[in-house]
Amino acid sequence: MAAVVTAVVTAVVAARDAFPPTLATFQKTGAGGAPPAHHAAVDNTGGTMAIPTSELKKWGLVWWQTNFTHAVPSKGGAVGVMFVWCTNPLYQGVDIDDPRTADFVIKPSAGSAAPTLLAEDLMKRTIGATSVNTLPIASTDSRFNAILMGLSRFKDRVDQSVNSPRTPQVTQAMRDLKDRWAKVWPHYRQGRALMVQELAVGMNEFADVYRDYSHMGLERALFNDQLMRNIGKLFAVDAVLGNGDRLCQVNTGNILFHETTKQIFSVDSQAIMTSYQHALIQGERNAKSWVEQILLTNQGASAVPERDGVVAPPSFSMNDLYDLDRWWNTWFRGHIENTLHYDNQKKPRDTLWQHAFRNFSMGVNEGLMAVDRQLSGLNWLSVKSLFKSHEKRYGASPNLDWTNFKIRRMVVRMVLAERNKPGTPQEKQQRAMDRVVAYAERKIATQHV
Ligand SMILES: Nc1ncnc2c1ncn2[C@@H]1O[C@H](COP(=O)(O)OP(=O)(O)OP(=O)(O)O)[C@@H](O)[C@H]1O
Ligand SMILES: [Mg+2]
Repeated sequence: MAAVVTAVVTAVVAARDAFPPTLATFQKTGAGGAPPAHHAAVDNTGGTMAIPTSELKKWGLVWWQTNFTHAVPSKGGAVGVMFVWCTNPLYQGVDIDDPRTADFVIKPSAGSAAPTLLAEDLMKRTIGATSVNTLPIASTDSRFNAILMGLSRFKDRVDQSVNSPRTPQVTQAMRDLKDRWAKVWPHYRQGRALMVQELAVGMNEFADVYRDYSHMGLERALFNDQLMRNIGKLFAVDAVLGNGDRLCQVNTGNILFHETTKQIFSVDSQAIMTSYQHALIQGERNAKSWVEQILLTNQGASAVPERDGVVAPPSFSMNDLYDLDRWWNTWFRGHIENTLHYDNQKKPRDTLWQHAFRNFSMGVNEGLMAVDRQLSGLNWLSVKSLFKSHEKRYGASPNLDWTNFKIRRMVVRMVLAERNKPGTPQEKQQRAMDRVVAYAERKIATQHV
């Protein structure tokens, strides 16, 4: 997807004739005061390091309004993100045609920011995922409008250059960019919060990597033990978070990892733990059907749109934990091989898939143990306090439910306890189902949901 983003950004070259004042100009003129320190440090891949959230937290209103030197929406993602630059593009290493050189990103949130923050926390604690340290800015915060004003200058500029009779040649790429702005902009204006996130430096998307056919991208990925293990770990933590828009429903554009270390990034991650109250609204009638939704439903049904017209991503059906082979062959391998077929490419050998699967399953196992450790004893108390504080601070969400979370924890524990015991995946799954239904019924009877 990153390659596509680059292509779109290229289209704005013609639209950036009048570049806004650079930071250097601001410093000279004193507009908005001196800029906060921006350490253009170098990360371990040699790229420039983007502005960390800790710095952005210090920005005052005027900075949010005037400090952006460029902004462009990502091509990837249903709504995607906005790449934002604040430094002089003439400085070495900064190139507004390349989103990898942006200073940070902004993403609109239609609902509470709490499910995203919980996902980032848990992914970091359990599998050491690199966090983009989301800073939510609620629509009631005065910085919200300042950011909208800051961004709208770049939308206006694209609109003007496409509409102006003085533009020598309006290319298709320029029109596409104008349309992309028009499509995503309402999500920013009507968002309940804007999520300012650190740029994921050195990030690769699995979708781009495996479709790099001329460099045998898929074969290299499947052969990379660390990568496959990390994807397995990701599978485990996504299961407990109920995050289905990546592995449960395969979306390889959301599998994001560092190009050299293969460490997972918690970009585009959120908890989808549908509450019983919202399951009732969706037509579920009792504890059993709610639990079935949590354990068995694969596509979408358990996700709750938080606002009309906003489609929430699918949840993660926990039964996939009982039958990894089936998930791997049907969903993961199946999805990729379909793409290969579509792209007219040769499929990798069975033995390579099997090699990758061994590492993936090892990763799932490690991930489940790490999840269990974080959701036990004192760690559990600390996760509980995080959960409650995010909810309190950023607002409750129909997709952030404590009983749902405990049901998911219970299933993880049962999967671990029963992994070497006799019985088919179906039998084990049934035992988990019976136990969890009993638990949910007790909770509902005592109105603890
Ligand atoms: N923090 C970040 N740093 C760098 N690139 C990012 C970052 N966040 C998002 N991106 C890029 O923008 C793309 C779209 O972002 P994202 O996946 O968050 O949007 P989305 O609309 O939620 O997507 P989806 O269609 O998967 O729901 C990502 O696939 C990635 O390439
Ligand atoms: Mg995405």
